[in-house]
Amino acid sequence: MFQWNESFATGIKKIDNQHQRLFEIGEEIEVLLGTYLDENTLNRAITLISELKDYTEYHFNTEKNIFIKYNYPDMGAHLVQHETFIKYLKDIHMDEMKENQEEFLQNLLNVIAQWIFKHINNEDFKYVPFLKNIMLQD
Ligand SMILES: [Fe+2]
Repeated sequence: MFQWNESFATGIKKIDNQHQRLFEIGEEIEVLLGTYLDENTLNRAITLISELKDYTEYHFNTEKNIFIKYNYPDMGAHLVQHETFIKYLKDIHMDEMKENQEEFLQNLLNVIAQWIFKHINNEDFKYVPFLKNIMLQD
C-alpha cells in the first residue's frame, strides 16, 4: 500500500522528501500489522501511528509556510483540508480499541492511506504549477 512511486512526485524536492518519509512510516506500520501482534508489536504500532500523526502535522506546517511565503492564491481551501485531517487524527482514541486490535489498526491505516494518496494526487498537485515556477526562481 505505502509504496511511494513517481505518480506521487510533485517535483518539489522538499515536499517529495517529506511525502516519502510519510510513506516510510506508513509502510513500517503496514509491515508490523502483517506480523503476529503481541503486546510488544501492538505497542510499537500505536507508537508509530502517533509518529505518523506528528509527522503529518509537521509536513502540513511546511506546506503552510511555503503557501504563505509565496502567497499561494488557493491556500485557504487547501489548509481547510489539512485541518480536517488533523482533527480526524486527533480524534482517534487508541484506548477505545479493545478487541480485534488488528482489524481496528488495519482499518485505521487504510483510511489514513487513502486520504494521503488522494490528497497528494488531487490537492497537492493543484499547487505544483504555481509553486514550481516561483520556487525555482529563488
Ligand atoms: Fe497538502
